[in-house]
Amino acid sequence: MEKSDPEIVLEARHISKQFPGVLALDDVSLKVYAGKVNAIVGENGAGKSTLMNILSGVYPDYQGEVLLCGRPVRFSGTADAQRQGIAMIHQELNLIPYLDITQNIFLGREPLNNLGLIDHNKMKRETLDLLERLHFDESPESLINDLRPGQQQIVEIAKALSLNARVLIMDEPTSSLSEKEAGILFRLIRELLENKVGVVYITHKMDEITLLADYVTVLRDGCFIEACPLEQTSVDELVRKMVGRERKDFFTKKQRRPGKCMLEVRDLCLRDALHDGKYRLKDISFEVYSGEVLGIYGLMGAGRTDLMEALFGYYGRKLEGQVSIEGRQVQLNSTNTAVAEGLALIPEDRKSEGLILDMSIEQNTTLASLKDFLKYGLLSFKKERTKAEEMRSKLKVKSYSGQQLASQLSGGNQQKVVLSKWLLTNPKIILLDEPTRGIDIRSKNEIYELMDDLAGQGLAIVMVSSELPEILAVSDRIICLCEGRISGRFERDEFSGEALLKAALPDKA
Ligand SMILES: Nc1ncnc2c1ncn2[C@@H]1O[C@H](COP(=O)(O)OP(=O)(O)OP(=O)(O)O)[C@@H](O)[C@H]1O
Ligand SMILES: [Mg+2]
Repeated sequence: MEKSDPEIVLEARHISKQFPGVLALDDVSLKVYAGKVNAIVGENGAGKSTLMNILSGVYPDYQGEVLLCGRPVRFSGTADAQRQGIAMIHQELNLIPYLDITQNIFLGREPLNNLGLIDHNKMKRETLDLLERLHFDESPESLINDLRPGQQQIVEIAKALSLNARVLIMDEPTSSLSEKEAGILFRLIRELLENKVGVVYITHKMDEITLLADYVTVLRDGCFIEACPLEQTSVDELVRKMVGRERKDFFTKKQRRPGKCMLEVRDLCLRDALHDGKYRLKDISFEVYSGEVLGIYGLMGAGRTDLMEALFGYYGRKLEGQVSIEGRQVQLNSTNTAVAEGLALIPEDRKSEGLILDMSIEQNTTLASLKDFLKYGLLSFKKERTKAEEMRSKLKVKSYSGQQLASQLSGGNQQKVVLSKWLLTNPKIILLDEPTRGIDIRSKNEIYELMDDLAGQGLAIVMVSSELPEILAVSDRIICLCEGRISGRFERDEFSGEALLKAALPDKA
């Protein structure tokens, strides 16, 4: 470690950014040191992504000054910022779904050969190199559409790496990565630091801050609160500064007796359409009772999302086995039947499956329960509004009105809208796939309490989570999945992180 302060590669001075109805940034300054991890923390809607969008040329229109290596700059757009050495991995995936990995990585800057034609071989070679650096075992020709959110995130990372930037901005890069993939990313970050790249790192996961950060900047409600080297602060202090008050104790679950069996799954199997004789889900059997939260733990690719989607009718008649709801056998042949049977799924990939960006918060919130707002075939706007407003305030969606477009919400607040939408369908059984991804510490607790309340009202909840502390805190029982099969079942008094991890890992001797 050097004694004097390291070189500042990028600096933001007194930045303000006004959106219609919101001052997203109010006189915020930031220093990005070369060869360091510069972390930015703050609650949902604090202004983190907005500041990064300014530094990477997404918003050319703002007040204040940006300096690159001490020189004032004003990027005209993202291409301009990239040319000058700034790359960003966006919080929301920005890939083109019907193009392949290589095409996405080189989009708009395809290398040309001597004849002035696109050099496909070079693109493919470089893509292979990048994917290898990321230990990512997918063909460069795979379509983005066929990849899971975590895999798409890796492509985003590859794309940013390919720019060989001086400053690499990562906006919640691990929110959909498995532990192993995150580990690979962290090693890569260390390589970048050796090459003096300034890394800007946004996360809601405090353990990542302690692991990675050299410097931390705290934002709250669009304002700069504090910046300091990590060793001069602590997680508790950071959280206090983020929320502006004492940290509330971690969520504690209410004890209650489970009621009747709401969902019973027997010998569920889903064949792998791509590999003959293989299964994505095999012999899955479990029950969920009224009033309880069943946690589903497993590593990425263990079949967690497949299981949620299967229960929600995604696979139609391809699904083998029996499902009963409240003791009655049902055929979950389509998502419509699943909804009619009282199921709700809050999907993992909320942007493409959960939210219509150019509709308002209100419209998105009532989208799945519109029939409840019909009177003589007409939509009762008043009733719709009242319900939507109720959810907006219950989940504390940071917004200036229910009319605000979903596209204008911060990442975490978009997730809250999707959650509201499904909760309004009055489900009996809720399937939650990574419900708190991208959600800040305070709102996480609010969501846990909401889940606990819903269980208290007699709902049955199934929750997939890859965050150990979360699944341990919220669940009544946990089942572990590994390679499409149940590899462990735990009652609350048997819960331990170690046991869960062990059950989740394949190749047990
Ligand atoms: N395009 C936009 N139009 C209007 N308001 C916007 C727009 N983008 C962001 N905002 C608002 O600016 C504020 C800051 O949002 P920003 O996305 O920067 O938050 P964030 O700190 O990244 O939060 P999160 O942790 O949820 O991602 C929020 O109130 C948000 O609603
Ligand atoms: Mg954000």
